[in-house]
Amino acid sequence: MTQNKIDKSPQTIQTMFNIIADKYDLINNIMSLGAHKYIKYKSIKNLDIKPNAKVIDLCCGTGDLCNIVKKLHPDSNVTGIDFSDNMLEIARQKNVNNKILYFQGDVTNLPYEDNSFDTVTMAFGLRNIANPEKAVEEVYRILKPQGKFLHIDFGEKNCLSRIYNIFTKITSKILTENNSAYEYLIQSKNIFPSPEDLIKDFERKGFIREKRQDYLFGVISSQIMTK
Ligand SMILES: C[S@@+](CC[C@H](N)C(=O)[O-])C[C@H]1O[C@@H](n2cnc3c(N)ncnc32)[C@H](O)[C@@H]1O
Repeated sequence: MTQNKIDKSPQTIQTMFNIIADKYDLINNIMSLGAHKYIKYKSIKNLDIKPNAKVIDLCCGTGDLCNIVKKLHPDSNVTGIDFSDNMLEIARQKNVNNKILYFQGDVTNLPYEDNSFDTVTMAFGLRNIANPEKAVEEVYRILKPQGKFLHIDFGEKNCLSRIYNIFTKITSKILTENNSAYEYLIQSKNIFPSPEDLIKDFERKGFIREKRQDYLFGVISSQIMTK
């Protein structure tokens, strides 16, 4: 899982997300033309979450996945973890009735016992972690046997993906004063492993492949892996 050349030190990434937090949802909606919400919703639907499941969303950001899980599975017990205070602040504002537990924490060092969760989810997070191998090991460790890991991020580096890069550059220039975070997004996306390489990395950590689903002609990909 080699993703070098970009500064992904935890402090740099944390600061970057703290800075962009207040506009994160708006820009995500515009840049994906709303598609990210549909993709997250479909991915959670595909996950087959069991009744009363214990679910944790790592790198939860502003809480999109947590909210979808809770909406589709009101009996589930949902936790979100992120290390950016400002992203969590937005997640907490969207946490109607305080039904989701949010904690600040580093997903490469989780404060949970082995075999604690039925389902672990992570969307657009792994790409930003300096030590993604450690994060995946943590996912494996905290999952119960037969538990499921849903991972979502950018997928194939195809023609449409390159068009998306240009669209991102233009919209971030218009919408943000400081668009370095979105320059970073393009760079990190370009060096992120392909979905098949990622699945091999997950398998090396002990996971069994269950399902891969591509969206937007492969620009976004989700993988469901079983422990
Ligand atoms: C691109 S955002 C994704 C947010 C959300 N999952 C979504 O799909 O909209 C990446 C998030 O990962 C968080 N993050 C990155 N590295 C982390 C780490 N080591 N521990 C905890 N959170 C981390 C950032 O703070 C940021 O909120």
